[in-house]
Amino acid sequence: MKFLFINGVNLNMTGVREKGVYGTQTLDEINLEISKHFKNDICEFYQSNSEGDICTAIQEASGFDGIILNAGAYTHYSYAIRDAIASVSVPVVEVHMSNVHAREEFRHKSVLSEVCKGVICGFGMNSYILAAESFKL
Ligand code: DQA
Repeated sequence: MKFLFINGVNLNMTGVREKGVYGTQTLDEINLEISKHFKNDICEFYQSNSEGDICTAIQEASGFDGIILNAGAYTHYSYAIRDAIASVSVPVVEVHMSNVHAREEFRHKSVLSEVCKGVICGFGMNSYILAAESFKL
């Protein structure tokens, strides 16, 4: 299968910021582990801090079987990303490394979940792997 992993705002700081919440692995290290896990699949990785660029990446993902999206804090308020997901036929699974429901109240609400195929959160870097595996069920 062909997967597109999209990481949004501040996910480039993974391994540097809030290590107690997001772990010590960098995003490059996480992406390498994902590639190894899916060695018989095609994995592409994209990260941007900019909301519009994430919308463009979603719009241009027509050749992929699935998008695994960790939009970071945009999850909680970006109607632009929500509309981008709703405008494409490629299914999107929303991902969070942390268990957002066990954290601050503003993280309990996602404006993306309603237009996503499913949501995985709370399993650290394995959230990405579980989300992509779901496309194989
Ligand atoms: C996150 C959770 C978000 O609430 C937060 O803003 C992030 C990361 C996660 O992976 O747990 O940046 O999406």
